[in-house]
Amino acid sequence: MEQWIAPGRVNIIGEHTDYNDGFVLPIALSLGVVCGAGPRGDGLVRLASVQRPGEVVEVRVDDLAAHRDRLPSWARYPLGVVDEFVRGGYRVTGVNLELDGAVPIGAGLSSSAALCCAVTIALRDLFAPELTERSMVEIARAAENGFAGVPTGLLDQSASILCTEGHALFLDVRAFTMAEPGASEQIPFDLGAAGLTLLVADTGQPHDLSDGGYAERRAQCDAAADALNLSALRDATTEDIPRLRDPLLRRRATHVVTENARVLAVVDKLRAGADPRRIGELLTASHRSLRDDFEISAPPLDLAVDAALDAGAHGARMVGGGFGGSIIALVDHADSVAEQIMKRFATAGFAPPRAFTVEPAAGAHKLD
Ligand code: GLA
Repeated sequence: MEQWIAPGRVNIIGEHTDYNDGFVLPIALSLGVVCGAGPRGDGLVRLASVQRPGEVVEVRVDDLAAHRDRLPSWARYPLGVVDEFVRGGYRVTGVNLELDGAVPIGAGLSSSAALCCAVTIALRDLFAPELTERSMVEIARAAENGFAGVPTGLLDQSASILCTEGHALFLDVRAFTMAEPGASEQIPFDLGAAGLTLLVADTGQPHDLSDGGYAERRAQCDAAADALNLSALRDATTEDIPRLRDPLLRRRATHVVTENARVLAVVDKLRAGADPRRIGELLTASHRSLRDDFEISAPPLDLAVDAALDAGAHGARMVGGGFGGSIIALVDHADSVAEQIMKRFATAGFAPPRAFTVEPAAGAHKLD
C-alpha cells in the first residue's frame, strides 16, 4: 500500500487571525499523520487506524452522510474528506485507508488537520490528480468544519499542505481565499544558524476546539467587525477600536488588530535577515494579547511562558486555539529552559509537561 504523510504545525505568530481574514506564520512539524491508501473497485471505504486497534470502519462511499452520526468521532475526520471528494464530483471507486498518527492529540499542534490533510493528499493522488494545493486546503478544512463538526479557520490545513522545509509560511488568508497571486510566501526560518532552538512545551491540559470557547471568540470577532461596518477585523485599525462601545468587543478587536501588525513586523524582520532573537519580544507580546485581550490562555500556559522567559527565552507564547495545549519558546539552550518549566510545574502541582524541540519541516507529501 502506498503511503502519504501530512504534518502537524506550530504557528510562530498570527493566532486567531485566520478567520478574521488576516495573516499567519506557521511552520510544519516533522511529526505527522501517515495515511496508507489503496484504491478498491467495490464502492466501499475501509478505514483502520494504528491508534484504534480492532476498530475497523466500513461504509459505502456514496452513503457516508447517512452514516455520519453513527461513526466514532475519530473516523469522521478521514471519512469527511472522502465525502468531500464525492460531493466535489470526483469518482472515488472505493478505498482502503490505514492511518498512523504521531501528532499529540489535544496539544494545539493540529493533529486533526494533519489527519484530514494526509487523507486529502492520498485521495488527490489516487482519484483527482488535477487538484491544486489550494483546493486540497479547502477540502481538508471543509471536512473538518462540516462532517467532523469542528469550526476551524484555515491556518492548520494551509500549514500542513503548503509549508516547506526550512521555512515559515507567511499566508495572507484573505488573498488565499480569493485565490489572489502572491497570497503565500516561504520565509527562510533557520534558527539553528543563529544558534537558536524552538522549544515546544505541551502543558497536557487538553484544548478542544468544539467546547464552545473557540466558536464564541469567532462570534465576538464577527460582532466587532459588524459594529465597525467592516467585512472582517482584518480591515480594522487601532483608530477604529474606540468606536466599539462594548469593552469586551474592544479587547477582542485589539488582539486581532495588534496580532496582524505583529505578524507583519515579524515577517519584515525575518525577510530582512535580522537576528531571529529580535522576533522574541513580538512573540511574548502575542501571548500577553491572547491572555489579556482575547482571554484564551490558561494557568499552565501562562506559567510555562513565564518560566521560559525567566529561564532566558527570547520570547514565548501559547499556540493554537487556546484554553490549553502547548507553548513555544525561542531559546538558546532548550534543556535548561525545559528543566525550569518542569520545576515550576512541579512546584505549582501541575502534571509534568512534555517538552521537545521543533524545526520547520516539509508539508504533506507522498512517502517513497
Ligand atoms: C485553531 C484553529 C485555527 C486557528 C487557531 C488560532 O488551531 O483550527 O483555524 O483559528 O486555532 O489561531
